[in-house]
Amino acid sequence: MLLEVKNLSIYYYTLAGVVKGAEKVTFSIGRGEWVTFVGESGSGKSTVAHAVMNLVPSSGKIVSGEVIFEGKDLLKLSKDELRQIRGKDISMIFQDPMTSLDPLRKVGDQMVEVMTVHGIEEDEAKERAKELLEKVNLPPDRLDYYPHQLSGGQRQRISIAMAMAFNPKLLIADEPTTALDVIVQDSIMDLIDALKAEGTSIYFVTHDISLAAERSDKIAVMYAGKLVEFGTVEQIVENPLHPYTKALIEAVPDLWKESEVRAIPGYPPDLRNPPPGCRFHPRCPVFRERSALKGLCDSREPEMIEYEKGHFVACHLYGGAGE
Ligand SMILES: Nc1ncnc2c1ncn2[C@@H]1O[C@H](COP(=O)(O)OP(=O)(O)OP(=O)(O)O)[C@@H](O)[C@H]1O
Ligand code: SF4
Ligand SMILES: [Mg+2]
Repeated sequence: MLLEVKNLSIYYYTLAGVVKGAEKVTFSIGRGEWVTFVGESGSGKSTVAHAVMNLVPSSGKIVSGEVIFEGKDLLKLSKDELRQIRGKDISMIFQDPMTSLDPLRKVGDQMVEVMTVHGIEEDEAKERAKELLEKVNLPPDRLDYYPHQLSGGQRQRISIAMAMAFNPKLLIADEPTTALDVIVQDSIMDLIDALKAEGTSIYFVTHDISLAAERSDKIAVMYAGKLVEFGTVEQIVENPLHPYTKALIEAVPDLWKESEVRAIPGYPPDLRNPPPGCRFHPRCPVFRERSALKGLCDSREPEMIEYEKGHFVACHLYGGAGE
């Protein structure tokens, strides 16, 4: 495995209380594998994706867990050691590329800097920047542009070009296409695919389960700060186990065509005070229908179990207690 995340929990300490942004999240990503995280807004997808790089805002804290990347726990590395890995072995791209670009400097200078920081000579870095721009289908004169002179799609191409500079082992992409129109979105996805074809593993985050189904090898489903199901695309799409995953899939009329997820009745809980037991129980249709689940789903937290090889689920309907 390239990346193994174990029992990762992140809390935010706010004036309004402690927000349990993500709790006891465990998963792994193999070499060359594309894993996509899906789930409603606020389910903890970005929290986990950032924590993997030990990047949490000042109000946030990683309260437990390990992030093993090529055998080393990233959460135990010094700032310097992490800096060596960030941008080189692991690259990140975000929904708003402006967050990672300096608005006051030309994109070419920024690309060159990323490379020189990691030991490439300046002249070589300049040449490489031009080649990278070509790879992401941008003319070389864009190197002289400031970020605000580029469109959102072009800025995202620049972020990807920067990510490509070192053939990273892992690309973490948090909703990189959400702000873009569908055609631009597709071209960005093609670029990420190209990176994967060169051996990079992809850790992708999206609201769009049909996008996930189309491009990934595996899907991770998050609900209210918990990972509730994880498996191959076929396992998740053909045989969803968790009632929340089922609802997500049913909410898309044609998984291979439509991209908007229709709302699932009810709201995700407030993560300052999540429901006891299974966090989905107030919205779960199975819990509502089966009286035998009362006293179980609403009081005992389901453990993640391996239902079939590589297919994990956290729900009392599987693996013992609720059967
Ligand atoms: N900086 C922060 N301070 C306090 N709470 C936060 C902060 N960032 C996220 N949260 C809370 O943590 C939980 C998880 O948020 P997160 O941003 O990880 O969700 P998400 O799945 O990425 O959502 P979206 O799809 O909207 O991007 C939410 O309840 C959110 O309100
Ligand atoms: S554990 Fe119970 S409430 Fe939670 S998803 Fe499964 S059946 Fe529904
Ligand atoms: Mg997010």
